[in-house]
Amino acid sequence: MPPVDLRSDTLTRPTDAMRAAMAGAEVGDDVYGEDPSVNRLEEQVADLFGHEAAVLVPSGTMGNQIGLRLLVPPAEELVCDADSHVVTYEHGAPALHGGIQTRTLPGGLLDADEVAAFLRPPGWGTVATSAVSVEQTHNRGGGAVHPLPVLQRLREVTAAAGVAMHCDGARIWNAAIASGTDLEEYGRLFDTLSVCLSKGLGAPVGSLVVTDATRAARARVMRKRLGGGMRQAGVLAAAGSYALEHHVERLADDHRRAQLIADALDVGPVDTNIVAVQVHDAVAVAAAAREHGVLVSVVGPRTIRLVTHLDVDDAGAQRAAGVVGELLAR
Ligand SMILES: Cc1ncc(COP(=O)(O)O)c(C=O)c1O
Repeated sequence: MPPVDLRSDTLTRPTDAMRAAMAGAEVGDDVYGEDPSVNRLEEQVADLFGHEAAVLVPSGTMGNQIGLRLLVPPAEELVCDADSHVVTYEHGAPALHGGIQTRTLPGGLLDADEVAAFLRPPGWGTVATSAVSVEQTHNRGGGAVHPLPVLQRLREVTAAAGVAMHCDGARIWNAAIASGTDLEEYGRLFDTLSVCLSKGLGAPVGSLVVTDATRAARARVMRKRLGGGMRQAGVLAAAGSYALEHHVERLADDHRRAQLIADALDVGPVDTNIVAVQVHDAVAVAAAAREHGVLVSVVGPRTIRLVTHLDVDDAGAQRAAGVVGELLAR
């Protein structure tokens, strides 16, 4: 029996139908802006978020880094929480590529009043805060969703301070489905968003930077400079368009299965598709789970993470819950 792989939601393989859409994609040279499938996808995603433009990039990391650099000049400050993907998993890219200084609040969901007190506007003789980055949903926060009123209040306090907002929306689709929030509602709160077609949507590659037309033109230059200009990228865009059409509503199934696992392990309610479980020895539990055909991630010395996705059905979720539950009971 193949293992149930819950290490990440990026593990899905394109379905046959998605592969067929890729094989049939109309393509051109996207570096010249002439790939019709890419152009269609970019327009579609910009529209979904109510922005003027979107730029296809190879990864969520590149999307974040371009989004951040559009908002934060070198030697100015980005505020985010200490567990954010942008400061935890992107290998120092804000500092290396953007010369961006980061200052972090405690890890987890942001609180608007705490952010307001943390910002440093220009003129204080301090490094000025140029932008706040918000992760929606929050990966290390166990897939938690920033509620819309919190984001709205964050927008108010940042706007009052003249500070921009970036959204690391790798899983913003999960947030939209779980909270019943329209993507456009999210879109209007942020100056730049990076949204992923991989992860829960199941496309093999691709993220988009969503923003206004002026910034999008700069984003295209940054993308090329980073080596992210792709030629017949329409084959990837076709997978993304397919995913948007067929794999967004079904995220509710992933959320239901994550809750099934959480209930079995007694870890309380989860917002979306990520279950973080506190254990005595994460490495040992992950190794034992692997022996029983269940793959989980170690995300801290005492934390394992289980992520539901397109390749995990009800039986797989039950099997994972049974194996991990047994190990925790020992
Ligand atoms: C919250 C978040 N942002 C960004 C990324 C980066 O995406 P990619 O792996 O496509 O670079 C990830 C990947 O897991 C993520 O969880």
